[in-house]
Amino acid sequence: MSILKVAKLGNPVLREVAPLVPADAIKGQEIQRLVQDMVETMREYGGVGLAAPQVHRSLQIAVIEELEGSEKGRKAALQVLINPTLTILAERLEEDWEGCLSIPDLRGRVPRYQEIRVQARDHTGRKVEFKAKGFHARVIQHEHDHLLGKVFFDRMRNFESLTYLREFSRYWKKEDDV
Ligand code: NI
Repeated sequence: MSILKVAKLGNPVLREVAPLVPADAIKGQEIQRLVQDMVETMREYGGVGLAAPQVHRSLQIAVIEELEGSEKGRKAALQVLINPTLTILAERLEEDWEGCLSIPDLRGRVPRYQEIRVQARDHTGRKVEFKAKGFHARVIQHEHDHLLGKVFFDRMRNFESLTYLREFSRYWKKEDDV
């Protein structure tokens, strides 16, 4: 496995709409290796999610592992989402802080839907469908956006909350945040 280079904001790959992965290619060596490398890269850089365009591969693949910041210490297992589609289940938007490995050192408050249904294929090519809420739903929406060529800046209501990480820790971090 390898740790991959992360594309930073300004790299055109982050603004492309990623093509679907053909279902019969999922079990192939190329996609399997990419998924493994994405997991390793996400863990190396302490991300809670990573999308293939962030490692210079324009494909509809995201990996999610919310070890940090999950609600009340709840830990989600590793999820591999290939060709995901999202359905909004609760129209209510909630604002919270987000960061991104492609936009290092910055955080901002982003409104996201509170509850979604996710349909995708997993790393074995099997169809999966589940509901996600709260922080989990937030991470999935953030990663799904990467597959559409969007970053969290695009979803912010305005840029007043935009802050460098150092200032985030100094002025905005709450005691119960990790
Ligand atoms: Ni991101």
